Amino acid sequence: MSSEPITVLHHRRIVLGVTGSIAVYKAVDLASKLTQAGALVDVIMTEAARRFVAPITFESVTGRPVYTTMWATAEGALPTHIAHVGLGEGADLLVIAPITAHTIARLAHGLADDLLAVTALAARCPVLIAPAMDGGMYAHPATQANLTTLRARGVTIIEPEEGRFASGLIGKGRLPETPTLIGHIRRALGRSGPLAGRRVVVTAGGTREPLDPVRVLTNRSSGKQGYALAQAALDAGADVTLISTVSELPVPVGATLVPVETAAQMRDAVLQHISGADALLMAAAVADYRPAEVAAHKLKKSGADAETRTLTLVRTPDILSEVNEQRPRSGWPRVVVGFAAESGDLLHNAQEKLQRKGLDLIVANDITAPDAGFAVDTNRVTLLDMQGNIEPLELTSKARVAEHVIARVARLLETRG
Ligand code: CTP
Repeated sequence: MSSEPITVLHHRRIVLGVTGSIAVYKAVDLASKLTQAGALVDVIMTEAARRFVAPITFESVTGRPVYTTMWATAEGALPTHIAHVGLGEGADLLVIAPITAHTIARLAHGLADDLLAVTALAARCPVLIAPAMDGGMYAHPATQANLTTLRARGVTIIEPEEGRFASGLIGKGRLPETPTLIGHIRRALGRSGPLAGRRVVVTAGGTREPLDPVRVLTNRSSGKQGYALAQAALDAGADVTLISTVSELPVPVGATLVPVETAAQMRDAVLQHISGADALLMAAAVADYRPAEVAAHKLKKSGADAETRTLTLVRTPDILSEVNEQRPRSGWPRVVVGFAAESGDLLHNAQEKLQRKGLDLIVANDITAPDAGFAVDTNRVTLLDMQGNIEPLELTSKARVAEHVIARVARLLETRG
């Protein structure tokens, strides 16, 4: 994960409650990564949590005091007697990770027997909890009933993962890794963003056209810009469908993945999922041609094909043009964004595509620049819209490009009501 600030986390106040589980070590990493991303993290540790890790570990990674008790006399005390209320009240989010079966029960019953429980009762911000415990404890009807109670009260529960416990047993109850936890935190913080209640479809990656059972024709697209767009849309509060050919990148938490391979499969998936969608972002590098025939068996070098081989290629469907054709009838998607990766005459080519494909916005980039385009984490793009506005962006991360594009999409949707 890069240490660039994450916009949806930047300057947000997160209270991180930590309870007594061996998974506390993962909470240290979580506190560290949240701080690096720009969040202000106030950690509250229960007494049991302090048996696993000392408060100074969290203080070192957050650069802020750690709170351990509500009593003014002891170390780790709050600055004022009402600060426990303030701690929860001023926060954007209360995350309890890991949360034990015991603290789940305390919260479900509204107990107020330590600083974390009091803060959870006083908090008016969204609450996110990540259970971590032995599989049997997690599955126990008492724990499940308590979780049902909390869920009904609006608490968001991050499902534990299956795996091996410290005890050697295997089951469901492991705390997910930091990127997953941060994905849930981003989702919780982004929920009221400018795309709240909107449905966004994003395509990503280069399509792969089979030639025979072992070979495909593809391109250099890594899918990184598409995944960054999906994440930015989630951060803005959208429901996101990610139609992707990529298997190497982690799927942003909250996105619904639709895996595809070929241009034809991508076309079918796009046409199916744009029904009712507010925006389509076609970041995928779609092959324009596919082999006319797909050999049933592996092609061999023999006979006339031993030295040279000629392939016949045929056109694939132009997905954006098909989307454009059905748009006047269906009204969906309300905003369509295309991408143009060019190796020359950038603005002219992009403008031509904007018109030809009936786009609202096109994101054009010059792939000959070494720091932009495929595989790298940065991009240098120019945005062109149907009103004739041309907006060049500085060289920046794909995450920032994505945020910018999503902000433009949100503005377009706003003007369309
Ligand atoms: N695109 C599409 N269907 C295709 C090819 C491209 O929907 N069969 C989309 C891409 O996802 C992108 C935009 O169209 O958003 C422009 O893609 P590009 O390959 O640059 O455009 P083409 O129309 O294929 O033009 P050319 O390859 O001739 O430059």
